[in-house]
Amino acid sequence: MTPGTTDRKIDRLIHLLVKNATLVVPGPKIAAEIGVTRSTVWMWIERLRSLGVEIKGYPSSGYQLQALPDILAPSLVRPELGENEIGRRIVHFFRTDSTNNVAAQLAAKGEPHGTVVVAEEQTAGRGRLGRSWYSEKTSGIYVSVILRPPLAPTAAPVLTLVAGLAAHQAVSQVAGVPVDIRWPNDLLLHGKKLGGILTEMSAEMDRLHAVIIGIGLNVNHRAMPAELKEIATSLRLEGGRPYARVPVLVALLKELERHYRLLLEEGSAAVVRRWAAASTFAEGKRVRVRSNADEFEATTAGLEANGALRVRRADGREQLLVSGEIVEVK
Ligand code: BTN
Repeated sequence: MTPGTTDRKIDRLIHLLVKNATLVVPGPKIAAEIGVTRSTVWMWIERLRSLGVEIKGYPSSGYQLQALPDILAPSLVRPELGENEIGRRIVHFFRTDSTNNVAAQLAAKGEPHGTVVVAEEQTAGRGRLGRSWYSEKTSGIYVSVILRPPLAPTAAPVLTLVAGLAAHQAVSQVAGVPVDIRWPNDLLLHGKKLGGILTEMSAEMDRLHAVIIGIGLNVNHRAMPAELKEIATSLRLEGGRPYARVPVLVALLKELERHYRLLLEEGSAAVVRRWAAASTFAEGKRVRVRSNADEFEATTAGLEANGALRVRRADGREQLLVSGEIVEVK
């Protein structure tokens, strides 16, 4: 077992409580069914309570779930995924440093395509360009997916667009809010960052070993830290109500699989077309570009089939961006 992984038995405890949602389940029965002592059951119940799961304890008769928990436990997520290859195995953490780190370690040990690593909290969540990713406990979705695509390393950037598109579709479907995608990988809501994607890979010159797609979505944050307040938001902050995270994660993993298959079956041009239709940044947007040491203003002028963004400077010169970042100029 990967160190720190949620014990499969805690997962069974969550499952047992959900299955008996309206009933009081006796402590000794839980202990016997999952094969631990009563004091371990009590300790784990306390752990779940600390994550916001409402469990009522009756001294002489047992425990009763007060509301369905919104924990991204494998036993609650996997049954919703049907035949999805992505998520066939889910490795869950209450807390870890970065799900991308864990996924990379697992991939190096031969973990198969489709394995998902998810955490309720990250202590060293990483963003692009060496930034950190704010990963408050049980508020967001912090997930990394191991892909082993039959593609050349040069095709890897399109996988970021696949993930951005999947996140866009999942959030639109579940929350019904007008999300936008900013090239290459930011999910925006009402102009502020709602989610981001960190794609990392291990490869040889001509062969991809594994690609780790790390996705962070701000779901139920009640406030963002002062330094992020102006640029980042959460579904709860914008929608004025909390959102269940399990359906968002399920939709995300299903959409990721759907768009990954689209890439393999129809090629990157099909992905890029859909990406451009979902984003207001693909064409005609005035932006400030930061790429390598360069910084300038330009207008976006469409995407290439490999995912590169074409921008036009005021003097008419065009340039293809393969990395970097853009912000809208108002
Ligand atoms: C960005 O916009 O800069 C990318 C943010 C990516 C954050 C996610 S959260 C899950 C995964 N684990 C990490 O450490 N980072 C990614």
